[in-house]
Amino acid sequence: MTQGSKTSRDSFSSKFGVIAAAAGSAIGLGNIWRFPSVTAENGGAAFLFIYLLCILILGIPVMLSEFMIGRSAQRNPYGAFKKLAPRTAWYITGLMGVVAAFMILAFYAVVSGWTLEYLYQSFTGNLVDKSSGELQTMFNSFRDDSFRPLLWFFIFMGLTAWIIIAGVRSGIEKVSKVLMPLLLVMLIFIAIYALTLPGSFAGVKYLFNPDFSKITPDVIFKALGQAFFSLSIGMGTLITYGSYIKKRDNLAGTTLSVVGADTFIAILAGIAIFPAVFALTDVQLLDMAQETGEALMFITLPSILNNVPGGQILSAMFFILLAVAALTSTISMLEVIVAFLTEEFNISRRKATISSAIAVSVLGVLSVLFVGVFRFLNFSSVNILLPLGGLLIVLFVGWYLSRKFTIDELSNDGKLSSKYIPVFLFLVKYIAPIAIAMVFIYGIINAVRA
Ligand code: TRP
Repeated sequence: MTQGSKTSRDSFSSKFGVIAAAAGSAIGLGNIWRFPSVTAENGGAAFLFIYLLCILILGIPVMLSEFMIGRSAQRNPYGAFKKLAPRTAWYITGLMGVVAAFMILAFYAVVSGWTLEYLYQSFTGNLVDKSSGELQTMFNSFRDDSFRPLLWFFIFMGLTAWIIIAGVRSGIEKVSKVLMPLLLVMLIFIAIYALTLPGSFAGVKYLFNPDFSKITPDVIFKALGQAFFSLSIGMGTLITYGSYIKKRDNLAGTTLSVVGADTFIAILAGIAIFPAVFALTDVQLLDMAQETGEALMFITLPSILNNVPGGQILSAMFFILLAVAALTSTISMLEVIVAFLTEEFNISRRKATISSAIAVSVLGVLSVLFVGVFRFLNFSSVNILLPLGGLLIVLFVGWYLSRKFTIDELSNDGKLSSKYIPVFLFLVKYIAPIAIAMVFIYGIINAVRA
């Protein structure tokens, strides 16, 4: 049991376990559902280019900062700021993270529920022999019917809560370790297959050949939000996971592995989806993505798999893996809330989990029933709360914590190389705050105007 006491704190058992769990959090629907749709909504390769820049100069420093804060404080995000910066208002950053966790989980678990519906449909053979038009109709009517999405949503929240009650090491770590590598293999397979389809090259061009005139402030704003969302940063998820990391692990190495794996999977999902969109359908699907980007993967992927021998089994496998990828992400969000409640209010892990799952479900039901709620949660948490959280986190490390503190923490008191630390500090002190603030302020002004 993870309790507030310092002595009995649960932790990950191995270095690979840490990477698997953090990568399990990062890799999810953000990569396979949200990344392709946001890319389609924002013009393809130019968006990808900015996205990669955001990952490199903003994502990496924020992630490393979160791990460092969490591991040094050994607390949930709120408690961590209280401990590292007593008698200041920095704890508000942690509270914001808890609020963001509620909001993100509420829409994320809805989409996770869709993967269960599609898993079910693959098993019953309903996806076979359907044209992409028919698959689109099927998706729309599923979404408009509120009963099934609600049912799957509740099942998914229940699964998440169940794993959280089981605890950190036995629950999160075990599931992540086995199934994440399998998802990778499956995606590689689908991507290779998609590339062999006649006409697929147009999709490769769409994804990789940037038209820089398409870069607008709005594209940058959306890319920043997506980068933070995909890496699970900006709300303290990785502060929480960092608090379960042992002192001897190399935080910079862990960060690079997680960022590398997450980015690789997102691009791979793009290679699985865009060539297939261009090969199997006319560009219509892309036009449609402008409105309902959400649907892209629930239409394109089943259409690809329909053409492959054994497609029914493959699509069942794919949706199982996707559901697991989503599950390792939802548990990382719920863990933030639960760690906060157990440590700060001394509630049992079970009670904390059940009550927060119920609270999230209220928001979740609203976002199933009202597309407007879904869109609001999706936009405001991803594009507003995460960048704001990320901004505060880099400011904290760059300007509040001492240089010595950071060097000691990141080098494990001198045992690891600290050569890169000046670059890291330069990024968190100047580059990241200025860049995030600029993009963020622009985004807010734009949102208010619209
Ligand atoms: N990164 C996950 C994905 O891409 C989603 C996620 C999990 C997340 N935990 C998070 C997003 C915390 C933001 C913050 O699917």
